[in-house]
Formats: sequence, structure tokens, C-alpha cells
Amino acid sequence: MIIAIDGSAASGKGTLARKLALRLNYDYLDTGALYRAVALSLMKAGIDVNYIDENQAVKCASEMDLTLTKSPEIRTDLVASLASNIASLATVRAELLTLQRAFAAAPPSGNGAVLDGRDIGTIILPDADLKFFIDANISIRADRRTKELLRGGQSAIFRDVLAAMKIRDYRDRTRLVAPLRAAEDAISIDTSNIDADALLALALSYFETKHRVE
Ligand code: CDP
Repeated sequence: MIIAIDGSAASGKGTLARKLALRLNYDYLDTGALYRAVALSLMKAGIDVNYIDENQAVKCASEMDLTLTKSPEIRTDLVASLASNIASLATVRAELLTLQRAFAAAPPSGNGAVLDGRDIGTIILPDADLKFFIDANISIRADRRTKELLRGGQSAIFRDVLAAMKIRDYRDRTRLVAPLRAAEDAISIDTSNIDADALLALALSYFETKHRVE
């Protein structure tokens, strides 16, 4: 079974995806990490973050260094913001599409796959078996992200995190190519008032219902 999870920044989609994969013994692909890794490799190449060379971004995506997706260096707000900028380029998205579909078609464990991102249920895997769309109030999300950054040893101020998140959300939702939106057949969940364990339990109940039906 293929599970697609889309949603806004710090909505809880990544934690849900990881926990679901662990519980079901599925493989997990954090597709946001791919965009972040491209952004980080551009930064390492010394680019001016205010001017993105599209050809260079496509080259970084095509030569994707997958080890960067595991690097803690991708977990900064600066990388997230650059990732969102390059993610609006159709050429970069096209370059990363094949890799994502290949992962879903042949998950390493041979069991199933969970992918999370912004366009998994709409563009990457429109035929996914189960789709979730996760969102929450933006102040709550910014508070979660601030705490996450602080836990990771970074300096973070709620006001700045909130401002950066508003810009990124707006860009992700309004871009022309693969904007963040719920697929028509996605189950929408607002996590403003539920914690990660409750979200997992809810998602598992949908999974079991789906499993019984098929
Ligand atoms: O963790 P958070 O939700 O804040 O961000 P992420 O999932 O790591 O994604 C970083 C950025 O990559 C997003 O703001 C999107 O612009 C972009 N992205 C995308 O366009 N499509 C995806 N499937 C995943 C991420």
C-alpha cells in the first residue's frame, strides 16, 4: 500500500509519516528533505540566495547527493526558505519526480511506502491508496517549529519563525506548479488540538478501514 501525506510546514505530517512507516514496517521518504538538500548544495556552492540560477539548481537536483537529506544542516529556516524558492521551479520539480515515483514503486522493504510533502497526493502519486492532508493553526505550527529548532541547538525566535512560515506557506500555496493543496480524495486532519500519538491513532484507524475494504 502507498500512503501519501501532504500538508503545511510543521503541521505534524513528517512525524506522522515516520511513525506510520515504523508501525507498518513500510519505507518512508521525506520529500521535503530532497528540496532542502538541493537548497543546501546550492548554498555550499556559494550561490547568492537572492538570485537562483535555475540551471545550477536543476544540476544539483539531477546530481542529488542523498547523504545531504540526512544532514542536520538542512534543518534550518534559511535552507527551508531557499528550498521553497527552488521548489517553485518546474524544471527542478521534474528532476525530482522520477526519484519519488521510483521509491514508491519499489520500496526497499518490499512492503509499502509512506511519502510526505506538498504534492504527493496531487501530482507525484495521484493513485496512492490512502491520502492525508495535514494542517493546523499557523501560530501553533510556528510555536512547534520554534521549539524544534531550539531542541536542535539552533537559535530561534517565535516572531521570526512565524514571519518566515507565513511567507513560505503563501509561496507554497500560490505557486503555479504543484501548489500545496489537498487532493480531492484526501482525508483532511487539523492537528491544532491533537498531539502526535492521537494523530497516529487516527491515521491508523483510516488505514485499517481501508485495509478491511480492500
Ligand atoms: O518541514 P517543513 O514542512 O517545514 O518543510 P519540508 O517538508 O522539509 O519542505 C521544505 C520546502 O520544500 C517546502 O516549503 C516546499 O516549498 C518544498 N517542498 C515541495 O515543494 N514539495 C514537496 N513534495 C516537499 C517539499
